[in-house]
Amino acid sequence: MSPLSPPPIIEAHGIVRCDSRAGTTLLAATDFSLAAGQRIALMGPSGAGKSVFLRSLALLDPLDGGRIEWHGQPIERATIPLFRKSVAYVRQRAAVLDGTVEDNLRYPFSLSVYHGLRFDRTRAARLAERAGRAHDFLDKRASELSGGEAQIAALIRVLQLDPEVLLLDEPTASLDPESARAIEALVADWFEACPDKRASIWVSHDPAQAARVSNRQLTMRAGHLGETAEQIQ
Ligand SMILES: Nc1ncnc2c1ncn2[C@@H]1O[C@H](COP(=O)(O)OP(=O)(O)OP(=O)(O)O)[C@@H](O)[C@H]1O
Ligand SMILES: [Mg+2]
Repeated sequence: MSPLSPPPIIEAHGIVRCDSRAGTTLLAATDFSLAAGQRIALMGPSGAGKSVFLRSLALLDPLDGGRIEWHGQPIERATIPLFRKSVAYVRQRAAVLDGTVEDNLRYPFSLSVYHGLRFDRTRAARLAERAGRAHDFLDKRASELSGGEAQIAALIRVLQLDPEVLLLDEPTASLDPESARAIEALVADWFEACPDKRASIWVSHDPAQAARVSNRQLTMRAGHLGETAEQIQ
């Protein structure tokens, strides 16, 4: 990194995650940096630690070692809400609240960190339409959504808040190919709106998708992160 270039958005120094009960290492000491403009695809076998890694980067689970910096600064307790606003983790299994899809999309605006921002139904409807959903999608009961529809709702909930980093944990795993392509387009729109300020990590088991959604590919194997070798599926 040249002295003039800005620090990465996220930088992990030797982060470790363990299962203390089983005495096993889930994520071996890992150095990693995510710079603006990077769109990383993360691949690797089931159980390799991809979700553990993403959740660690998002500070959703306590680290057992190492530290994470955000824009070159350690993350203090007081800055965690701002960090969460900036770095959005979209869960592998989407969680929805009671009520309609719109209620779910409105929910973040009730949090103090989004004070001053207002839910924009027109924008949300446009995102839903871009994701290939019918015009009544926002009025559907969240509890009646299919797994794939719940993933779409969870992604729209995050996109409408304009995060600078998206950590996408198999965001199209429950979707048909056409809907998956719509989600890829939606995420591409988000990135292209500010390509010099945004970055993403997209976990996928599909090499063709990984190639489409990334400009750098990494692989997780048994808790070890590495550059992708050609044979990885
Ligand atoms: N909180 C936890 N406590 C103990 N073990 C955990 C915890 N979270 C995950 N694991 C274990 O860590 C390993 C890696 O899990 P992880 O969910 O990161 O896999 P993955 O690479 O995301 O797999 P998949 O592709 O199936 O989603 C698994 O063996 C899992 O059982
Ligand atoms: Mg996973």
